[in-house]
Amino acid sequence: MQGSANLNLMMKAARKAGRSLVKDFREVENLQVSSKGPGDFVSRADTAAEAIIREELMGGRPTYGWVGEESDAVEGADPTRRWIVDPLDGTTNFLHGLPHWAVSIGLEHKGEIVAGVVFDAAKDEMFVAEKGQGAWMNQQRLRVSGRTKMIECIFATGVPFGGRGTLPATLQDLGRLMPACAGVRRWGAAALDLAYVAAGRYDGYWERGLHAWDIAAGIILVREAGGIVGPVREGDDVLEKGALIAANAEMFKPLASVLRGE
Ligand code: IPD
Repeated sequence: MQGSANLNLMMKAARKAGRSLVKDFREVENLQVSSKGPGDFVSRADTAAEAIIREELMGGRPTYGWVGEESDAVEGADPTRRWIVDPLDGTTNFLHGLPHWAVSIGLEHKGEIVAGVVFDAAKDEMFVAEKGQGAWMNQQRLRVSGRTKMIECIFATGVPFGGRGTLPATLQDLGRLMPACAGVRRWGAAALDLAYVAAGRYDGYWERGLHAWDIAAGIILVREAGGIVGPVREGDDVLEKGALIAANAEMFKPLASVLRGE
C-alpha cells in the first residue's frame, strides 16, 4: 500500500513509540516479582510513549489538534483535523507482562476518521487503513471474515472491571449471545479487538464505556476491510458515546439485534 504523507507519519510515530514500549515491556516482566510491582514504571512508559508520538505528529503537523489519553487536549489552528491517540491500549495486559497491547493513532478530519494505525509492537503487526485505500497488515490486504452463521462466529468484547457501571449490561449481553455463538473472547485491548475484526480473526466485537482514543484508529480499519461499525444504541454517536458494535457486513445486523434485545 502506498500510504499518504500523513499515514507514513503516523506509522513512523507508532514504530518509534512501539520500540520504546517493547524495551520497557522487557523490564516490566522482571518487575512482576518485586514487592512494589510495576505500576509506576508502567505509567512512566505510557507517558513516555505518548510524548514520543506527540513530538512526531505535532512536530510534523503543527496546525492539527490533539486528543491523547495521557496529556491535555489541544485545539489546533486547523480546527478540522485532530490526532486521536492512545499510546498504550491494553495497559493492564502490559502491566501484567501479557504481550497483547498496542499503540493506536487515528486522524479525524471534519468529524470523520480518515486514517488509522494500530501497532502491536510485541508481535510486530502494523495494522493501517486510510479512507478509500483499504486496510492492511504488514503489506497484506485485510478483509473481514466471511462467516454468516452466528453459531460459527467468535466475538470479542471487554468485560468492565473495577466496579464500572456497564457491568450489568455486559452480563446481559453475554447471557444472550454466548448460547448462540461459537465463543466470546476478552483480551483487554480494544484497538486490537477492532484490528482483529478487520483481519477476519474475530467475526465481530462490541463494547461500552470506551474512549475515542481506544477506538478511533480501529473503526477505520474495520470499515476499510469491508466491515460495519455502528453504535450499541441506535442513533448514538460512536466516538462520543464510546459504545460500539463492529462486525462483518453479514453479521452486523444479527449481532446488533441480539445485543439490542430485539
Ligand atoms: C482499555 C482497553 C480495554 C477496554 C478498556 C479500556 P487502556 O484501554 O482498551 O480492552 O476494555 O475499557 O479502557 O486503558 O488499556 O488504554
